[in-house]
Amino acid sequence: MSRRDDHMIFAAFASASTTKTSLGAWMHPSTDPGFLTPEYYIDLARELEHGGFDVLFFDDRLAMPAAYGGSTEPAVERGSRVVKLDLVALLGLLAGHTNRIGLGATYSTTYGMPYHVARMFATLDHLSRGRVVWNIVTSLNEDEAENFGTDYLQADQRYDRADEFLEITTQLWESWAEGAVELDRETGRFADPASVRRIDYDGKFLRSRGPLTVPRTPQGWPVLLQAGQSGRGRQFAGRWADLVFTTAHSAEAAQKHYAAQQAVTEQAGRPKDAAKILPAVMCIVGETEEIARQKNDFFNALSDPIEQLVFLAEQANFDFSDIPMDEPWDDANFDRVTGTRGIIEAFVKAGRAAFGADATLRDIVKARSMTAGNRFIGTPTQVADTLEEWFDSYGCDGFAIMPSDVPGSFEDFTRLVMPELRRRGRVPEVEVTGVTLRSRLGLADRTQ
Ligand SMILES: Cc1cc2nc3c(=O)[nH]c(=O)nc-3n(C[C@H](O)[C@H](O)[C@H](O)COP(=O)(O)O)c2cc1C
Repeated sequence: MSRRDDHMIFAAFASASTTKTSLGAWMHPSTDPGFLTPEYYIDLARELEHGGFDVLFFDDRLAMPAAYGGSTEPAVERGSRVVKLDLVALLGLLAGHTNRIGLGATYSTTYGMPYHVARMFATLDHLSRGRVVWNIVTSLNEDEAENFGTDYLQADQRYDRADEFLEITTQLWESWAEGAVELDRETGRFADPASVRRIDYDGKFLRSRGPLTVPRTPQGWPVLLQAGQSGRGRQFAGRWADLVFTTAHSAEAAQKHYAAQQAVTEQAGRPKDAAKILPAVMCIVGETEEIARQKNDFFNALSDPIEQLVFLAEQANFDFSDIPMDEPWDDANFDRVTGTRGIIEAFVKAGRAAFGADATLRDIVKARSMTAGNRFIGTPTQVADTLEEWFDSYGCDGFAIMPSDVPGSFEDFTRLVMPELRRRGRVPEVEVTGVTLRSRLGLADRTQ
């Protein structure tokens, strides 16, 4: 089975921060320490744009990790995701220094207000000439609620609020009809009042009157990205998302997720391929397989077990600090997880697969650091083969590439893997400019 008529979509999964999922990577010699300087981000965006990436997207979290031991100290000391710059300011900078690549920011529907978020993304869509992507998240943990001084909503409620949030933002983006601005100097008419309307939305969680103070944007709506893994999360993605991130750990799992997401998207009344599916993978590439393996071993050595637990605790909203490191993991612990239980279950499963049924927390953490981020390790040919295998077997429509070190691993990808994929006809030979990201990726037209 081959998908010769399709191109793979590539999103670079970056952070406005020191480190991404590859913990300790800020210590790596090919990590640029300039994460607080504009050049760091401008150079990265240009490298990815030049190298053929479709989207540069930044993750976000609205609190320092504090779930482990109820303190931010272990995270601050190790530099574990304690820095997160505001992404709208960052995208504004990058819009002026790039002209083709899509630019994505994560924004939470749990803590923001829809009018504010609609306005920010509409403004960025104008300023980037139609290249903006919103990664819609519902946020994960109690520390974020603490920072905003609100109660922590449970997952389903967060998604119910998110549905209302999207109903409002999309209506606000449409509150100016295409062509409403007339700028007619002869008649003195700026815009057609009949083409600019209130939305008068009154929901269970949120209200907004409208209209928005930003006229219709080049893409109509920004490209909407979502990464829900639970049933409710996938349902939300089926209704709204243009791009979906997944975390499949094998080609078979990716195929299953792909088929399941397509079914849910169809149930939501959209074409089944309306949401393009991109598993998040880390590619560790070397000129030889041995070089790639050594690189991977080096990354694994950069982070200690406590840092791994700080990271897991943040994602799962669960404090591991009172669980003995060297006793077999007790499944009763799962019942205490109020965040993303699936993440912990996956790590326990991986720990048991690697170290047996009696795997301890230390073993689980070790297995996590060996496999974190679903790694494709090898030569450019081997990595390109695996990417093709996932794509051709309908496990995905492209990939969210997670870096180990930044910019080193992105440079490896653009220098070594992209040319190989281009030779194989998997990414376009000539990069199209002058059209919106939405139309270049073949996503639903939202301009009408
Ligand atoms: C590739 C990827 C990127 C994500 N980025 C973020 C992020 O930047 N901020 C965030 O709060 N959550 C992020 N998430 C978490 C998701 O939004 C989602 O909450 C998670 O996958 C669990 O799914 P669920 O919400 O359906 O339980 C990400 C997930 C994935 C797979």
